Amino acid sequence: MDLELDGNVALVTASSRGLGNASARALVREGANVVINGRDETTLEEAAADLREEAAGEAEVVAVPGDLTSADDIETLVETPIDRFGRLDHLVTSAGGPPSGPFLETDDEDWYDAYDLLVMSVVRLCRAAAEPLAADGGGTIVNITSRSVKEAIDSLVLSNSVRMSVIGLEKTLSLELAPDVRANAVLPGSHETSRIRDLIEQAIERGEYDSYEEGLADWGASNPLERIGDPMELGNTVAFLSSPKSGYINGQSIVIDGGSGGSNL
Ligand SMILES: NC(=O)c1ccc[n+]([C@@H]2O[C@H](COP(=O)([O-])OP(=O)(O)OC[C@H]3O[C@@H](n4cnc5c(N)ncnc54)[C@H](OP(=O)(O)O)[C@@H]3O)[C@@H](O)[C@H]2O)c1
Repeated sequence: MDLELDGNVALVTASSRGLGNASARALVREGANVVINGRDETTLEEAAADLREEAAGEAEVVAVPGDLTSADDIETLVETPIDRFGRLDHLVTSAGGPPSGPFLETDDEDWYDAYDLLVMSVVRLCRAAAEPLAADGGGTIVNITSRSVKEAIDSLVLSNSVRMSVIGLEKTLSLELAPDVRANAVLPGSHETSRIRDLIEQAIERGEYDSYEEGLADWGASNPLERIGDPMELGNTVAFLSSPKSGYINGQSIVIDGGSGGSNL
């Protein structure tokens, strides 16, 4: 299926690795020009080179280093596709993950940091991008959050709590920015990215697993599909939600977890 994204322009945040990177890759494969981001410039440049190879000259990849907790960096991020391509058609928001651990081990600073990273970054990105997205025939927003908004996950109190705000924002934007801009969210279960590798390492430190392989097998074992996800399985969904082929999907939160969630809806 041609997703009709050829020549479009997308900004994908936190995309030097992980789910953001998989989303950028899926968009590039469809011929979209992408602006990617991350804090570490070396990792970001390597990711840009890799995506350019993937694009094989059919799409452009622009790397913009920046911290999503900085309002100034976000302003630069949103200005870049306008300056470079004269338009912005798709915004895909991802970010790093908050630290894991039980509630009684979190302090005020942890909560404010998680709010800054996971919520204020999306607020600022959507506010700055709303007008350019609405121009030139309209656009899309896809917010990458977590299945933790549907079902609380053990030892992830910050994710379980703070991410709910992004869903409230996304649903509101799907009403307020329509019909020019559609807004949806994707709720990943476990996909094998560096984020998951870090969480498994932390679980090893807490004595829950003896090895990475044991942790990975355990995470996969509880899934009906008997494995954790490939990041591209999420990235391809992000590209679909950015495409006119999903033109009547708006204001939805789509779980991509292999069916591991217990909710009927
Ligand atoms: N992977 C999963 O299975 C899974 C499941 C549920 C939810 N999630 C959530 O999905 C999001 C992405 O996870 P992931 O697995 O893709 O993580 P990841 O593999 O660790 O990648 C995170 C990306 O975000 C960038 N980043 C982190 N903090 C940033 C900041 N302050 N400003 C700009 N860029 C930043 C990182 O680059 P730099 O470090 O260089 O900045 C990297 O490119 C996270 O919020 C995570 O909690 C992931």
